[in-house]
Amino acid sequence: MIKKETIEKVLDTARIEEVVGDFVDLKKRGTSLIGNCPFHNEKTPSFHVSVSKGIYKCFGCGAGGDSLKFVMEHEKYAYPEAIRYLADKYQIPIEEVERSPAQLAAQDKRESLYVLSQWAGRYFRNQLWETDLGKSIGLSYFRERGYREETIQKFELGYSPEAWTSLVDAALAEGFSREYLSEVGLAIDRDDKSLYDRFRGRVIFPIHNLTGRVIGFGGRTLKTDKNVPKYVNSPESEIYHKSNVLYGLHLAKKSISERDVCYLVEGYADVLSCHQAGVENVVSSSGTSLTTGQINLISRYTKNVVILYDGDEAGIKASLRGTDMLLEEGLNVKVLLFPDGNDPDSYIQQFGASAFKEHLSKHQEDFVFYKTNILLRDAQGDPIKRAQVIREVVNSIALIPDEIKVSVYIRQCSGLLDIEERVLLTELNKIRMDKAKAKGRKDSGPDVEPSMHQPMDDFIPAEMLAAMESEGIAPPQAVKPISSEILMERELVRVLLNYGREMVSWEGDGDIPVAPYLLASMDDVTFEDRACIKIIEEFKAQAELFEVPEAKLFYSHQDQEVSKLAIDCIATKYEISPNWNDDKRKIFVPQEKDQLKDLVNQLIYRVKKIKIEQQMHKIREELKDCSDPGDIQILVAKYQKLKEGEKLLGEFLGNTIVK
Ligand code: UTP
Ligand code: MN
Repeated sequence: MIKKETIEKVLDTARIEEVVGDFVDLKKRGTSLIGNCPFHNEKTPSFHVSVSKGIYKCFGCGAGGDSLKFVMEHEKYAYPEAIRYLADKYQIPIEEVERSPAQLAAQDKRESLYVLSQWAGRYFRNQLWETDLGKSIGLSYFRERGYREETIQKFELGYSPEAWTSLVDAALAEGFSREYLSEVGLAIDRDDKSLYDRFRGRVIFPIHNLTGRVIGFGGRTLKTDKNVPKYVNSPESEIYHKSNVLYGLHLAKKSISERDVCYLVEGYADVLSCHQAGVENVVSSSGTSLTTGQINLISRYTKNVVILYDGDEAGIKASLRGTDMLLEEGLNVKVLLFPDGNDPDSYIQQFGASAFKEHLSKHQEDFVFYKTNILLRDAQGDPIKRAQVIREVVNSIALIPDEIKVSVYIRQCSGLLDIEERVLLTELNKIRMDKAKAKGRKDSGPDVEPSMHQPMDDFIPAEMLAAMESEGIAPPQAVKPISSEILMERELVRVLLNYGREMVSWEGDGDIPVAPYLLASMDDVTFEDRACIKIIEEFKAQAELFEVPEAKLFYSHQDQEVSKLAIDCIATKYEISPNWNDDKRKIFVPQEKDQLKDLVNQLIYRVKKIKIEQQMHKIREELKDCSDPGDIQILVAKYQKLKEGEKLLGEFLGNTIVK
């Protein structure tokens, strides 16, 4: 372990402009340096470096941090690697902490497990290439399956002979301890404490960590007997944590990063065949459902994942839920199916590399639509099942952190499900409110230990803020979860911008454009979101002049937050693929515009409901601290009034919500 003093010295010495300057062409602008962001593609620079604060911040993609963070992100280094890199750059000698015997032993143990695993990998390879049985059984098996020699070498495949103690004997003769042999699972303990080989009579697929060290094995049987498990795998150990490992990642990471997409397959064989077909950005979760740890591993290299399923529908359905996690982590997820029960491996072996690549490029389907379709197929003619499908689909959509994506999905799924968009929106908001509430409860629990490296999103130096202000750029907000209030405000702004000028005939009120009608019922409502308020205020000011501002006025608003909001609100309209309304697919997207009256009234009631809930919450809080009987009586009376109002609104809304 590196000494604390060394780390401090490195951090003191490293100059942000020099560290970043090695990778980014920086130009002086005002008090900061700017350049093209190395973390996302851009043509106009939005990557700022503050020399005095020692930090960088990209206002395009939100990346930001200090020198160390830059090196970790840019070079994909872990903390100690990044320190070593910087120490080397500034020629600072690295001092290591002297460790206690217990720490040394622990370190030694891990290291010994690594060494043993590496040795075992070599042992299995030798068996495969150098022994008669290995060649005639193992190697010929791989060849028969169509794996070329270079592939067998690249994945360091091996063979474990059909004997009880072949590896155990060799390992003990090498001086490896019995304890470690069973700890990494190469050997299994008998009751009488004798050991035997776990992987007897199997071909061996070593499993590597990110840096390419062997940490475990999968062994495939050569028997066709159904009673023999097809694969036997190493158990969890101090060096093999299954939830944080993806098979093949050490060979795939570069290609994943370059191609900006990761293919996810089910098995070892699929990974091998893909590589052989020239597709290297592929990993396998080895037959288990994905974990958050594995997803985080992928998202270090790309935000785009394509899941390559074999066509078995039962299996697909089982994995739908696991895949939701990918959405939740903000990844873009597509699926690709293979026909006739083929998996990627069998498809490649049967049809060849170019057919595979063609299939890969032509048949990817968006995960959310795919899920919608597959669930719908089951629910045909069953209204209760259909309602479940709707909820399930909206549940998936509600996981997606990106608002624009959410609204595009809502719109398109409205077509697929043949249900009005606003119904889906209502359902979406309901799910989100429930979640927000559940989260509120959770957050008030014990504090979670803060992580060592806090995200830097909320850390923008004053001078940078000043520079941005003088350029009319709004400072980005720290990334916070969006509350249901703000979601509602945005929906209000969306309706104002999209339909504010539409004439509607309202019962009792005659023909009035949407904007003044909507705003008249919002008089007593206060809003929270800065950008929303700016837009709403502008609409209100114009309403007094009997005008409705045009949406495009806001696109190039000097307040960037306002212009971003305006564009987000409008942009969704143009993102619908032209196929959606085509006759061939018989998809009808109901036009929101046709149901403006309902949409607007719904919105008014929803906003009021939220505001009432807020007031009720406030009164509850006041009641907690209130001891005067007279005051209590007044508060309770107020509360009951609100409660009645809430009930009325609830009834109105309830009538239009899918239950
Ligand atoms: P598959 O049965 O699809 O394996 O299981 P495969 O890799 O395509 O194997 P071949 O083509 O029949 O040789 C997918 C993955 O599930 C895990 C393995 O990681 C396998 O690669 N698995 C499967 C097990 O761990 N144990 C098993 O008994 C079966
Ligand atoms: Mn297979």
